[in-house]
Amino acid sequence: MSTAEELREQVRRRYAEAARAAAAGGCGCNDDGSCCGNIACEGENGSFGDALYSAEQRRELPEAATLASLGCGNPTAVAELRDEETVLDLGSGGGIDVILSAKRVGPNGIAYGLDMTDEMLALARENAAAAGVKNVHFLKGVIEQIPLSAESVDVVISNCVINLSTDKAAVLTEIARVLKPGGRVGVSDVVAEDHLTPEQRSERGSYVGCIAGALSRSEYVAGLEAAGFEQVSVEFTHEVADGMHGAIVKAIKVSRPQARALSVIEPAARAGCC
Ligand SMILES: C[S@@+](CC[C@H](N)C(=O)[O-])C[C@H]1O[C@@H](n2cnc3c(N)ncnc32)[C@H](O)[C@@H]1O
Repeated sequence: MSTAEELREQVRRRYAEAARAAAAGGCGCNDDGSCCGNIACEGENGSFGDALYSAEQRRELPEAATLASLGCGNPTAVAELRDEETVLDLGSGGGIDVILSAKRVGPNGIAYGLDMTDEMLALARENAAAAGVKNVHFLKGVIEQIPLSAESVDVVISNCVINLSTDKAAVLTEIARVLKPGGRVGVSDVVAEDHLTPEQRSERGSYVGCIAGALSRSEYVAGLEAAGFEQVSVEFTHEVADGMHGAIVKAIKVSRPQARALSVIEPAARAGCC
């Protein structure tokens, strides 16, 4: 196994354990920095987990879904979801953001959750059934190779997962591929201040704990722009470690040049014919 594969396997094992604990009615993580959300589980502060959701949103969810919440933000609060849209949640965990999104896009919309961990997928399916949402699909796979066709999604959300990827460029390229032109990204993630080196990020927390693998703000912006996004913004919301923040990352997929050209050409072409 390569180092990247070993790291991914370590992440998978850790979150499988968290899912089993949440399914048994316990807290998903211990207070040892071994996964995202350990702090919220201990109830010491609201940097991670269900404390980042409004009381109204939490009332909409089964208790097991809130217990399994291991995010560092609330992407459903930042991504403007509209009726009948298709939403994809990368690293959907216990399903909290998929369930909330499914309600927002209504019965004619679709909410996909993608996760590589069987135990999380099983928990998410149980939680969605308990929440009574039918317009959800949980897919097994990795976010570096999204099992959906090109230009099939209106909005990509994610909550504290991209930092766990061992190939972030592949993730951003895949997001661009599956989004329709003009599609939106609204992601919560841990992001480092630009002056922190990768070594300094590692000193502040573990990789599986969503700290060591975090991109810096300028790395995120450059990565999204290179993948074909515009109107990129990274807004820090709360500090999770010294110089490291829960952040809201937003961007729009650049419309295809042909599509833009077509909309300009079309009226003239129509006038000149028929
Ligand atoms: C920190 S938890 C967040 C779960 C959920 N988004 C939430 O807010 O509760 C990370 C989740 O991402 C999944 N994950 C991590 N890396 C992944 C990858 N490369 N591909 C697919 N899923 C991944 C894990 O299995 C886990 O369920």
